[in-house]
Amino acid sequence: MKQGGSDAAKRAAGESAAEAVEDGMVVGLGTGSTAAHAIRAIGRQVDAGLDIVGVPTSFQSRELAREAGIPLSDLDEASVDLAIDGADEVAGGDLIKGGGAAHAREKIVDASADRFLVVADPTKEARTLSQPVPVEVLSAARTTVAESVRELGGEPTLRQAERKDGPVVTDNGHLVLDCAFGDIDDPAALGRELASLPGVVEHGLFVGLADQVHVGSEDGVTVRTL
Ligand code: A5P
Repeated sequence: MKQGGSDAAKRAAGESAAEAVEDGMVVGLGTGSTAAHAIRAIGRQVDAGLDIVGVPTSFQSRELAREAGIPLSDLDEASVDLAIDGADEVAGGDLIKGGGAAHAREKIVDASADRFLVVADPTKEARTLSQPVPVEVLSAARTTVAESVRELGGEPTLRQAERKDGPVVTDNGHLVLDCAFGDIDDPAALGRELASLPGVVEHGLFVGLADQVHVGSEDGVTVRTL
């Protein structure tokens, strides 16, 4: 996971995307340190009278949205107008997500949104996706999925928890294999292969889902519409 971006750059990106939120919207609330800036900015707008409902993508974004005073709902009750979410790597409009192991719920929310805005700092940008792809798996499938990933040319690593012995367990109760493939020339094809493996809950390749990328820096924000 690339973590090199400055907080100022992340804040600029998050606050820029939050400006797209309008009264009456249902807003998908992404996970991670960049999306957190968008959530705080939306919270300030709600304080000032904006009437929206948020749909969180993780335990973290739910807690943050609650602290920010954003009324919440879920996908059973609301359809998302606009989603704002971070990324671990951005190449054109394609993304690798899941550095925080939240990519399964993120993909459900981001893919369902009428518009999906990505927020990132410049360290996330790449010509070709090449970060390890997080793959959430049922615990019973971790060995078989790992074998299949090797057959696809990848090197899987079971993600280990920090400050807890053993693996990361996702918000959904599953495990994560970080799968290194080197340069990913055809993310859509790799995504289809990974999605087809029995026991895979979701993978972190987000292909063709983003509508806009807001890249923040110390000096401002570049917005790319796709
Ligand atoms: C969460 O699982 C991820 O998809 C995050 O959206 C991604 O890791 C970006 O996080 P940062 O904004 O903290 O880099």
